[in-house]
Amino acid sequence: MKILILGVNGFIGHHLINRILAEKKDWTVYGMDLGSDRLGNALHDPRFHFVEGDIGINKEWIELQIKKCDVVIPLVAIATPKMYVEDPIAVYNLDFEMNVNIIKQCVKYHKRVVFPSTSEVYGACSDPEFKEDESYLVVGPIQKERWIYSCCKQLMDRVIYGYGTRGHLEFTLFRPFNWVGPRLDSLYAAKEGSSRVVTQFIAELLMRRPINLVDGGMQKRCFTYVDDGISALMKILENKNDVCKNQIINIGNPNNECSVKELADILKELFMKHPDHINDPSYSEIVDVSADNYYGKGYQDIYTRKPSIEKAKKLLQWEPKIGMEESMRLTLNSFLEENKDISI
Ligand code: UGA
Repeated sequence: MKILILGVNGFIGHHLINRILAEKKDWTVYGMDLGSDRLGNALHDPRFHFVEGDIGINKEWIELQIKKCDVVIPLVAIATPKMYVEDPIAVYNLDFEMNVNIIKQCVKYHKRVVFPSTSEVYGACSDPEFKEDESYLVVGPIQKERWIYSCCKQLMDRVIYGYGTRGHLEFTLFRPFNWVGPRLDSLYAAKEGSSRVVTQFIAELLMRRPINLVDGGMQKRCFTYVDDGISALMKILENKNDVCKNQIINIGNPNNECSVKELADILKELFMKHPDHINDPSYSEIVDVSADNYYGKGYQDIYTRKPSIEKAKKLLQWEPKIGMEESMRLTLNSFLEENKDISI
């Protein structure tokens, strides 16, 4: 199988390429990204062809690869809430406009698309567990610009679904629920306060800055360790007996539900016990901050977000294995190991 991964140096992309190269000797991957800092040894593998480039600029190369490949995985997107409120138009341009052009080319060349939807499309849905084919997708008013990401992704889902059901495209939409793990976001983004919560808290611990609990930290997420997520994604790519054809599939770990406050406590405790930090003279305090102060007026939070994974279990014969503490231990340790010599 020949696969094209756009955004291969991103969080999901680089974990996916490593797994493909380790497990699938007869798969070849063509990849593009702005940089290659997360790709390591993969760059030396003859089954991986990497090009440094921008999906907004290198359009001819992309079209050529789409023509040649069997499956296209467009992973380029802005996916950090701070950016949704700071630059909603950049989110629209990249997450919708650039991506919809890629989808149109997949239609033109009859290619299978495996597209990252998101847990954010469910928005503030009140269901205790979000179901792919039943739950309502609920967003706030236009002034709350946070929802631009959810809306862009939802419209992508609807466009892809429309092409698919009219017979113009074969697709699988997968919805990651707060995947975490090594190299989730860069610590430099966290230094500016614009990374996702797990990287943000790790960076605050390293910099001995306060850990901010937005509006008290009672909001909950289900954190999914990236290795579990990638295992599900591999099964989607294998697509045995076409089980994933034109399906939407949540990929998350409902057992790892945890409030942001509990998350801060877990990470702080793991950090304080870590051999490199056990003798630190002081540690970050955990403080409350209002959402307006932290994100600005365009923000609105999501208080519970739990996936139903019945569909993933049934279609993929998959379930997540890595618990909350272990997910955080693995994530924290890798950040500490990889950033030993870097002062952030
Ligand atoms: C994330 C992002 O939108 C995407 O990465 C993705 O599509 C999706 O959800 C997902 O990964 O499933 P969210 O979970 O709200 O959205 O993003 P985080 O930045 O990780 O924030 C989680 C929670 O922690 C929020 O309630 C936020 O207010 C809180 N938070 C964040 C803090 O309390 N303190 C901080 O310093 C940062």
